[in-house]
Amino acid sequence: MKVAIVYASTTGNTENLANAAAEAVKAAGNEVNISTADSADANETLGADLILLGSPAMGAEQLEDSMESFFSGIEGSLSGKKLGLFGSYDWGDGQWISDWADRVTSAGATLTGTVKAHLAPEDADLEEVKKLASNS
Ligand SMILES: Cc1cc2nc3c(=O)[nH]c(=O)nc-3n(C[C@H](O)[C@H](O)[C@H](O)COP(=O)(O)O)c2cc1C
Repeated sequence: MKVAIVYASTTGNTENLANAAAEAVKAAGNEVNISTADSADANETLGADLILLGSPAMGAEQLEDSMESFFSGIEGSLSGKKLGLFGSYDWGDGQWISDWADRVTSAGATLTGTVKAHLAPEDADLEEVKKLASNS
């Protein structure tokens, strides 16, 4: 199985989740391609068996800019794909990730799960994102 992980992170919190997810994919003996949203290749990402996207809540419950730009670029090509979402937030209630999940399902993709960590991920958050990466 090939897993693509694309993330944006301003202070490293979402990046920690992305790295934990990548470790879990490798530990399961699967192939992982991890990149930041500003350098990710859309076609390569769309070719993966499982796509994991990460972004912190920014603006007012919005995706970080580089992820918004990457995601809107692939949004029209997600039909039939499997996607999981993760990210970090602070003062909100997680609206950014539920809005994102709605966009994923509206695009015709299967949402395998969402993982949100309050600020720096704790062990439980890292375990959750590892499960997301194992698609279980
Ligand atoms: C400009 C800015 C806007 C933010 N907007 C939100 C928000 O709308 N909702 C929220 O819960 N947290 C918001 N946050 C908090 C970040 O999501 C939080 O600090 C997160 O841990 C950053 O993750 P990162 O290190 O992966 O960038 C905002 C932070 C900044 C700097």
